[in-house]
Amino acid sequence: MKIVTCVAPVNIAVIKYWGKSNDELIIPLNDSISASLSTDVMCAKTTIMASPLLNESAFWLNGAKQDMNSPRLARCLKKVRERADPSLPEASWNVVICSENNFPTAAGLASSAAGFACLVYALAVLYGVEGEISDVARQGSGSACRSMYGGWVRWHCQGDSIARQLKGPAHWPEMRVLILVVNDATKKHSSTLGMKRSVDTSSLIGYRAEKVVPDRIRDMEGAIFAKDFETFAELTMRDSNQFHAICLDTYPPCVYMNDTSHAIVDLVHRYNEFRGRNAACYTFDAGPNACVFLLEQEVSSFAGAVDYAFPRVGDGADYYKGLGFERVPIEGGLAETLTPAEQGKLKYMIHTEVGEGPRVLENSDDHLLTVDGLPKALGLVPA
Ligand code: DP6
Repeated sequence: MKIVTCVAPVNIAVIKYWGKSNDELIIPLNDSISASLSTDVMCAKTTIMASPLLNESAFWLNGAKQDMNSPRLARCLKKVRERADPSLPEASWNVVICSENNFPTAAGLASSAAGFACLVYALAVLYGVEGEISDVARQGSGSACRSMYGGWVRWHCQGDSIARQLKGPAHWPEMRVLILVVNDATKKHSSTLGMKRSVDTSSLIGYRAEKVVPDRIRDMEGAIFAKDFETFAELTMRDSNQFHAICLDTYPPCVYMNDTSHAIVDLVHRYNEFRGRNAACYTFDAGPNACVFLLEQEVSSFAGAVDYAFPRVGDGADYYKGLGFERVPIEGGLAETLTPAEQGKLKYMIHTEVGEGPRVLENSDDHLLTVDGLPKALGLVPA
């Protein structure tokens, strides 16, 4: 019997991936750049057991049994096994895979990227496969290939379409991320379907991929290398806005941001105007939640502005998640420029930072499966 448990990070793109040139192999139309976030705050965790005693293979996600034959899962499993030494006995044993996110999947946060990165990383460890495997993670979910590395990561559309680390997490240690989770129950269409429809119907998407993104990738790399927050912030906001413009240019449109998302955009611009520089920047994926990048020195003050603009319900217990920070009230001059929203527009905020890539957890207490190959926790993780 062999068992391995790993964790992998969530990543947030600052230059977005949207659209494929090959749907089957998941080759993107353009390069993208992301930051992997600390696994201490948010992560996917996966245990895989391989044993000759297992009667069948199984896949558990957040305590619920899933279809083992879903094409993307089957493909990742097949691709990693193809790279394993065929003489290994475990290569032909059944496997039980158990995966959990330590953050609510319904929050619309990029859980599939962390999940597939974790799955592929754990499979590679299980079968002793070494070397580049971001191309396999990519075939689980495109953005997953960027979660195979920590720090700042670029996914290439050309060649083997692999992800490469640009800089490790220690390169820009002051960088922080505030995730503002918007209270929203609407079920959004998946990124996979949304981007397919954009490729089929948007007349702007080709222009973006060919004419806009290449320069932006170059400039974003430069901004990250030079730790130039001013430029980084502008490129990040412009790219998020362009991605959502393409979503609206899709027919029928894909509407991911809601009124609260737009109010967050407005808050960030007013905040930056008040500071006289780009002190914070937003980016939105295929959902209404905002990821705000900002430097450590700005966290308390910006969070104070968020608290003023988006009054929370209750006493704030469980509202601030992740890394601690000093709570300060909004500065008077800034408050004058803002009109607070109705209470309860934000569900909670997560404070985190750029972190390491996937890793193995050595302690057997960390395994999500019992020695019999059953999940230790069944249906316990909130949906
Ligand atoms: C908006 O990686 O979820 O988050 O490759 O079809 O699985 P598939 O799509 P997915 O798309 C992510 C889109 C995005 C932008 C990004 O992460 O770059």
